[in-house]
Amino acid sequence: MNILETDDYEAMSRQAANILFAQVVLHPESVLGLATGSTPLGIYRRLAELYQQGDVDFSRIRSVNLDEYCGLGPNDPQSYHRFMEENLFRLINIPEENTSLPDGMAVDTDAECARYDRRIQELGGIDLQLLGIGNTGHIGFNEPGCNFEMSTHRVVLAPETRRANARFFQNPDEVPCYAITMGIKNIMSARKILLAVNGKGKAEVLAKALFGPVTPQVPASILQLHPDVTVVADRDALSRLPVGSRAVIE
Ligand code: GLP
Repeated sequence: MNILETDDYEAMSRQAANILFAQVVLHPESVLGLATGSTPLGIYRRLAELYQQGDVDFSRIRSVNLDEYCGLGPNDPQSYHRFMEENLFRLINIPEENTSLPDGMAVDTDAECARYDRRIQELGGIDLQLLGIGNTGHIGFNEPGCNFEMSTHRVVLAPETRRANARFFQNPDEVPCYAITMGIKNIMSARKILLAVNGKGKAEVLAKALFGPVTPQVPASILQLHPDVTVVADRDALSRLPVGSRAVIE
C-alpha cells in the first residue's frame, strides 16, 4: 500500500486527480470505478479543469459507479446519477452510454444487481477504482458486518450513514434506507484502487482501516489485502495513525 500525505483537501484533490489523469492519458480506454460523496468533489473539479484545458480526452473511457440509493430515480436531485451528471459527466466528454450506475428504481433488485455485475464483467473489469471512506469504515455502501465475498447487492444503510448523508437532503427522513452497492468482491477485483480521504473526522476510522485488523467490522480494512492500493489523504485524515506507522507514508 502506498500512502501519500498532502497538506489539505485541495492538495489531496489535485494529487488524486493526477493519478486518475495519468490513468486516462496512458490508457484512454480504461474502465474507471467512480465514487460519490463530498470527498471526490475536488477531484472531479480538477479533472474537469484538465479536460477544459485540453489536456485529457475521456471519449473512450467507460465508468461504473459504486452505488445508488434505492427509490431515487436518475433525475432526483439526491440521486448518485444526478450527482455524477452534475459534478463530472456533463463537465467532460465521456459519452453517456459509457457510464453506468445501479438503477435505484429497479423493481427486481436481485436482477438489477446481477445485471450490474454482468456489466462490469462485460467491460473487462475495473482498471482503477476511486474510493472514499464512510464514517463507519464503509466503502461503497458496504457497511460494518458486510460479507467480503459479495458482489453487487442491496444493503440496509447503517443509521450512522443515514445521519451522515442527511446533510444532502432537505429532511433527514428523506434519506433512503436501502441502496444497491458493488460488493467488496467487485471492489477487490479492481486492478488498482485509489482511496481519497480528508479531514479529522475520518482520522480514527482511517487508522483502523489501514493499520488495524482486517475485519468486516471495518469494511475498508480489506484494502490491506489488495496488491495495488494508493491512499491519498490530507494531514488531518492521517493524524491518528498508530505510533511507528508513519514510516510508510510518503
Ligand atoms: C457515501 C458513499 C461512499 C462515500 C462515503 C463517504 O455514503 N456511498 O462511497 O465514500 O459515503 O462520503 P463523504 O466523502 O461525503 O464523506
